[in-house]
This record gives sequence, C-alpha cells and structure tokens, in this order.
Amino acid sequence: MGKDVIIACDFSSAKETYEFLNQFGRQRPFVKIGMELFYAEGPDMVRQLKERGHKIFLDLKLHDIPNTVNKAMKVLGRLQVDMCNVHAAGTEKMMRAALEGLTEGSAKAGPAAPAQRPLLIAVTQLTSTSQKQLEEDLLIHRSMEEVVASYAALTKQAGLDGVVCSPLEAPVVHQQLGSEFLTITPGVRLAGDAAADQTRVTTPAKAKELGSDYIVVGRSITGAANPVAAYERCCSEFIG
Ligand code: C5P
Repeated sequence: MGKDVIIACDFSSAKETYEFLNQFGRQRPFVKIGMELFYAEGPDMVRQLKERGHKIFLDLKLHDIPNTVNKAMKVLGRLQVDMCNVHAAGTEKMMRAALEGLTEGSAKAGPAAPAQRPLLIAVTQLTSTSQKQLEEDLLIHRSMEEVVASYAALTKQAGLDGVVCSPLEAPVVHQQLGSEFLTITPGVRLAGDAAADQTRVTTPAKAKELGSDYIVVGRSITGAANPVAAYERCCSEFIG
C-alpha cells in the first residue's frame, strides 16, 4: 500500500453508505469504517465492502485493559481489514496485547486469507484536541508536537506500524522514528471548507508537503456538493 486518500464513511446506515459510494461508479476508494457505521451495521458491513473491492481502515480506536483489547483484536483480526487501530494512551502493554491478538486473529481467518495481518496503528492525540484542551482537560503540560512524538515512540516500541496524528505532526514523527513508520492523518480540509470540530487541520496539498502517508478525509468529501470531484481533488493534491 502506498500513499492514498481514505474516505471517512461516517454514515449511520448501510443504505446511506451505498448511496454515497455508488456515486463513484466503478472506482473503489479506500474507505474508513468508524464507530457510527460499525455500531449500526456490524461486521457484515465490513465483509460487504471488502467483497465490493474496497480497502478498509476499521477505525474503532480500542482503549481498554490489555486482556480485553487482546481478545477484541482476535475477533477483529478475522475480518481481514487493511488497517485498524487503538489509542496509544492505553500504554505500551495494551498496544503489545492488541498486536498479539490481531496477529493471532488474522492467522485464523481461514486458508483463503492473506498471510499478512492488517496494519495496526495507534492514535496519538485526536486531531480535534487543541493545545489548551491538552493542558486544561488532560493535564498534559507539554507541546502537542512533543506529546505526539512521545506517544509515537511508545507505539513503535510496542511493535506497531504507525500512528494517527495531524499532518502538522507528520514531520516530527518521521524525523524521530524514520520514514517507514506510517503517519495516517485526519484533520484534512479542502481549502475554504469549515474545520468544524477539528482543530489541527491542513489541506491535502499541505499534508503531502509535510510527508503524511495516508490522509483521512470525511466531511470535505461526504459533505461536498460533488463528492466524487472533491475526492478527485484530494487525490490530485495529495498523490499528484
Ligand atoms: O469529517 P472529518 O474529515 O473531520 O473526519 C475525520 C475522521 O477521522 C472522523 O471519522 C474521525 O473519527 C477520524 N479521526 C480523527 N482524528 C483522529 C482519529 C480519527 O478525526 N485522531
């Protein structure tokens, strides 16, 4: 997998998701299934989108005690998605437990399953979190960049493949942990679109310049008057 644009399919039903994706004709964009869609439609939605030929980032952001995350990851591993995630704040021990569970679960996915497990990445700090919230709500008195870099180092130490961060933090992550360590970056808006609840945002072109490996784009595509044109603009700005 190389640089790509992942569309956040933040819909509440399969019907709405297909109405959206059908606009893309034969194109099969990389999609992200988050909590809203997964809680509404369950694993069947993942299986159906895989069958249609979409690559899938299952964004459930697991964060619990290591044993619980390990068992949940064993189950998710059977779905054979391309990418899934946890919160780095769950600690290195939790991330190691997640990786073990995912590796075990995906190995049991059946003889037809590819040998490779899904990429496992960890959320450093949500792209909706501001420096002020980091300090006042979470009581973390360090710069956002320092916190993201430190959580990313912990993630790498746990053996995971990369992190979710803002494109603004992609350079520090790559400088400190190498270009092979992936940065998956939400907080992306086409120029002129509203940031809404996101605080650390950039355009797809800027994300490319900053070295993001994948951008995750939701509302700039799903809320556009012409979602296919918005997706193509993201691709041309980010991939070229
Ligand atoms: O609509 P928007 O482009 O803001 O959507 C961003 C998507 O990326 C949402 O689905 C959100 O859950 C997800 N995300 C995020 N920040 C993170 C991790 C995931 O915005 N750190």
